[in-house]
Amino acid sequence: MKPRPAFADDLAAARAEAFALLARGVADRRHAFHTPTLASIGLDGAPRARTLVLRGFDAETRSLRLHSDARSAKIAELAREPRAALHLYDARAQIQLRLEGRASLHREDALAEAAWAASRPFSRMCYALAPAPGTPLAAPPPAPRDPDSGRAHFAVILFTFARMEWLWLDAAGHRRARFAWGEAGEEATWLAP
Ligand SMILES: Cc1cc2nc3c(=O)[nH]c(=O)nc-3n(C[C@H](O)[C@H](O)[C@H](O)COP(=O)(O)O)c2cc1C
Repeated sequence: MKPRPAFADDLAAARAEAFALLARGVADRRHAFHTPTLASIGLDGAPRARTLVLRGFDAETRSLRLHSDARSAKIAELAREPRAALHLYDARAQIQLRLEGRASLHREDALAEAAWAASRPFSRMCYALAPAPGTPLAAPPPAPRDPDSGRAHFAVILFTFARMEWLWLDAAGHRRARFAWGEAGEEATWLAP
């Protein structure tokens, strides 16, 4: 039998593994954590979930960077209710993360400028589309020509989590743990899976 990893019985190792996977999700386009699901609260109060590309992770501040079109529904939802959740599942590692926190929106500041400057023409093209995302159309829209015209619609979502639930599926016994960060620093506990 394979030796069990340290995180099977060590909360700090479980947290470290989760953070390493988040960093990997940014760096590795093929990694499952590259495309997490962002959940927000719809303007009608109902939950909304969608896939986004994970663009950045800062372990120190526990913040994840995502990009979107400022005209999209999620931006209006997060502007009204910044509380949000991010879900990630790595089928190979059999690790699920459920992150809960708040989103801040950035369109004109240094964060947005740096993210736009670093994005490729192909990505920029997504924001150059007219009309706004989600607009009903009689036929698919023509491809935009000028990627730089997308800058006006580009938004960075900075999601900072204050809670993380970690679940590892293993034949020898599943593991589930919760981490929370607040005034008192970090609190961590095992949970019944
Ligand atoms: C693999 C994949 C990656 C995606 N990446 C993004 C992304 O980085 N940003 C984004 O706004 N939408 C992305 N989308 C599209 C969203 O899932 C969603 O359809 C769109 O943003 C509209 O969502 P909204 O109406 O809730 O705002 C992606 C979809 C898929 C399938």
